[in-house]
Amino acid sequence: MRVGIFDSGLGGLLTARYVRALHPQADILYYGDTAHLPYGDKSPAQIQSYVRSITAFLCAQGAELIAVACNTASSVAIEAVYDAAGTVPVLDAITPAVRAFQLHRYAEPVGVIGTYTTIRSGIYRTALEKLGYSVQDLATPLLVPLIEEGWLEHPATHAALDTYLSQISGIQTLLLACTHYPLIEPQIHAYYQHVGQKVEILNTAALLAEEIVRNLPPRGSGFFSCWLSDPNPRFLALAERFWEAPILPIPAPIA
Ligand code: DGL
Repeated sequence: MRVGIFDSGLGGLLTARYVRALHPQADILYYGDTAHLPYGDKSPAQIQSYVRSITAFLCAQGAELIAVACNTASSVAIEAVYDAAGTVPVLDAITPAVRAFQLHRYAEPVGVIGTYTTIRSGIYRTALEKLGYSVQDLATPLLVPLIEEGWLEHPATHAALDTYLSQISGIQTLLLACTHYPLIEPQIHAYYQHVGQKVEILNTAALLAEEIVRNLPPRGSGFFSCWLSDPNPRFLALAERFWEAPILPIPAPIA
């Protein structure tokens, strides 16, 4: 059974990597919509049209399970994915995270950081408030380009983290609601250590990967294929950062 994982770009490869780590035989079809990256500042209607085509493409390639690694697409375009997937089951990035907050009582207030579109949708705030949590959410749009530039330890990234995280000071749990943010989890920990605050950090990519693995049969062939809608050489180095191995992407039809 092949799982089709997609994202606005390469960040979802981190989810795929977590899947592989948990289930080395998992068969993975990956689609990165690098032609339309980033989704985080696009309108819901625009994102819905992209994800419709991507889902149809992955199903045509034999995906029997679709996983939306992108938090932004999961926030504002999941209905379009369901529509295009038909009878193929769909997993989104939000549900496993919200379920984690339901199954375990995390310390609050809970901070949620993500793209403009994810935060503006209010999807995490609404779901977590329904579970009785107090929530402080914040759009942190500069983090994706800094991570993509590879500036994980750059003073600019530390400055952006200082500026953003000081706006949600007082939180006790932080949800990283974006594909890319786990790559700077050590820097986020360092920030909290520096300011003397104890904050537990959760990331949606790891929670989605666990959910994908729960839905896969125990055996597979370890197949992996990666399509990019714009296989620009700039993206290849980036792909390796998320996947931690060389990648040979196939040009994909543009969504
Ligand atoms: N993949 C997006 C997300 O998880 C981040 C990058 C983008 O804005 O496209 O929200």
